[in-house]
Amino acid sequence: MKKIVVAVDGPAGAGKSTIAKEIAERMSIVYVDTGAMYRTVALFAIKNNIDFKENEEELISKLDEIDIGINYTSQGQRMLLDGEDVSDKIRTEQVSMGASAVAVIPAVRLKLVEIQRRLAEKQSVIMDGRDIGTYVFPDADIKIFLTASPEMRAERRCEQLKQNGMEVKYSDVLEDIKARDKNDSGRSFAPLTQAPDAILIDTTELSLEESISMVEKTIREGIK
Ligand code: CDP
Repeated sequence: MKKIVVAVDGPAGAGKSTIAKEIAERMSIVYVDTGAMYRTVALFAIKNNIDFKENEEELISKLDEIDIGINYTSQGQRMLLDGEDVSDKIRTEQVSMGASAVAVIPAVRLKLVEIQRRLAEKQSVIMDGRDIGTYVFPDADIKIFLTASPEMRAERRCEQLKQNGMEVKYSDVLEDIKARDKNDSGRSFAPLTQAPDAILIDTTELSLEESISMVEKTIREGIK
């Protein structure tokens, strides 16, 4: 198979990461989770008491000091911050909201986009995020825009957080999802939007298995 880049974009909780991870396995390609990179920058800012909402400049001035590492292991993509594996620590709602706020800052995006482009230089990838098909890889071989209603996305996110041992309230999660949608779609630099050549898949009425099959079929047909 020739080297391919599959871009999967869409709002929070549409199922991008679960679906992309499974497809990467089925197609023996690498799954790259770009949201985890924004989450790691947010964790760095939170740990260092940087008020990135009020003082973007402080975070921008420290960007070169952030020691982000990415490892691809049998457990998938692992994020390192200052050498520590923070893959689990970046999954809290506090970090989710922080990620959406730091992702508005163009300097943060440019730093992470450079890493993302480098990862796809030598290997086939399925990469999920918000701007993969529109900004990171405008020439991606296949572009998928995955979405679902905010209510269904909040329900799924609650389930996922509960499975990871976090106690959350549905109404709080729904509110966070709506706030992130607004942040992600409303920012001026590389906002969340469907690329004109992306294929729209709405998973509101689909089970996980049906969603995976539909995305896999779309990709396999697209690369034929
Ligand atoms: O998994 P979930 O959809 O909740 O979020 P994520 O993909 O881990 O991304 C966390 C946040 O990072 C999002 O709310 C976006 O604000 C931001 N992000 C982005 O701006 N661009 C990307 N390519 C990926 C994530």
